[in-house]
Amino acid sequence: MVDPIRPLKALFYEYVLNRKFTVVVKEVLSSTEHDTGTNPEGKSIIHLAARDKPLDTALLRTCVDQLKSFIFAGLDTTATLIQWLCYEMSKAFYSAHHAVILARLREEHDTIFGPAPSSALGILASLTGSSSSSGREVPLAQSLPYTIAFINETLRLRPPVATVRAVPWGAPPISLPHPSGAEHGRVDIAGLQIYPPPYLIYRNPHNWGPDAHLFSPSR
Ligand code: HEM
Repeated sequence: MVDPIRPLKALFYEYVLNRKFTVVVKEVLSSTEHDTGTNPEGKSIIHLAARDKPLDTALLRTCVDQLKSFIFAGLDTTATLIQWLCYEMSKAFYSAHHAVILARLREEHDTIFGPAPSSALGILASLTGSSSSSGREVPLAQSLPYTIAFINETLRLRPPVATVRAVPWGAPPISLPHPSGAEHGRVDIAGLQIYPPPYLIYRNPHNWGPDAHLFSPSR
């Protein structure tokens, strides 16, 4: 059922959110100096957005809008991914296949982080900030390749987001390839919303082989 109050509620919540975020942005920008490039605090999203610009209403509004985008884009995606990661690990209780995967994950974590969970955070922080002999930052993937493969495989089978693109009305027709190789001619896509379904693309044996449905971080 259509809720006639809903648009008003949305406006009210947006107003509240904008006010609270404006306070946060003001506090952050006045608490430390603008980005110097060396200060880690100066590398925050807000500092990068505000770099070299006068702190006026327009800038505040832009920072608040950007902050909302990042919270929307970054929160549900990562939360959904984390619960799928836990789900895939939990299968080790009843699946021998997943038990092997979990054992490999634990082995990698014990090797890198040591046996004490309490020390893991400190080691993780030093890993992400560590540099190679050439002075370049060492990517975490280099230290935890199986963990990254596990995350990638979870993202493949359980993609938390998708995308849609609107095709302009004036767009010319395109020719679509067909798996059989048959000529399909030109397809008019002007004005359409194109949705590449990640769930299907990531489970298609044509792309991933006959075991496309198998959870296998080693692939
Ligand atoms: C598992 C985690 C994540 C996944 C799977 C994911 C996936 C995606 C995808 C598919 C898009 C493209 C959407 C589109 O163009 O229609 C996108 C865009 C974006 N994501 Fe993420 N994302 C993740 C985490 C994050 C985080 C943590 C942040 C920020 C803190 C973030 C910020 C953004 C932003 C700002 C865009 C828009 C970029 C642009 O078009 O200018 N994402 N993300």
